[in-house]
Amino acid sequence: MEYGPHLAIYPGTFDPLTFGHVGIVKRGLNVFDKIIVAVAVKTAKSPLFNLKERIALAKESFAGEDRITVESFDGLLVEYAIERGAKAILRGLRAVSDFEYEFQLALMNRHLNRQVQTVFLMTDYRWLYISSTIIKEAARAGGDVRGLVPDPVYFRLMERLGRQVDSTEGMI
Ligand code: COA
Repeated sequence: MEYGPHLAIYPGTFDPLTFGHVGIVKRGLNVFDKIIVAVAVKTAKSPLFNLKERIALAKESFAGEDRITVESFDGLLVEYAIERGAKAILRGLRAVSDFEYEFQLALMNRHLNRQVQTVFLMTDYRWLYISSTIIKEAARAGGDVRGLVPDPVYFRLMERLGRQVDSTEGMI
């Protein structure tokens, strides 16, 4: 099936995927027919999860959603979007602090290729304060982050941090 203009790319590092990201993708499906969650191969960050893990966690989190695909991308985002036949890049905005970086990114992408438009959705107010980094930080310090990330992410995070969890009742 050809999705053409109704396909969007949702790019990011996703180290790991949070409910903030999930919210943007789910709401994005009201606008687009199909969304590719594109996990960046290269990142300036030092990820806790390697590429394979970040992809696997996103796939598990979106399991059963046939309009959402998870894959990796390397190199220029706009080139990848064109390759996939997407005319839109989807990004979420949490607060004013996101704006400057997102503005730079969107304008650079526009400079690189004018056929690809960046579309912003406001992050749901429930997730305004979270980021992958702050969730990892809270979890490392012993905080309960269940409810901020999908379950597959939560369990993997606890495992990575060497924390014991009960899969039905949460942390023990
Ligand atoms: N809710 C909660 N948190 C959110 C969020 C939302 N809706 N949207 C973003 N975030 C958080 C992320 O968790 C992440 O947190 P972190 O910094 O603690 O990891 C942060 O906001 C933004 O990161 P992310 O959305 O993963 O984007 P990124 O900035 O890491 O990724 C790329 C940027 C990969 C899209 C960008 O670098 C890219 O396109 N790279 C390819 C090369 C290229 O073409 N560059 C463009 C020209 S410069």
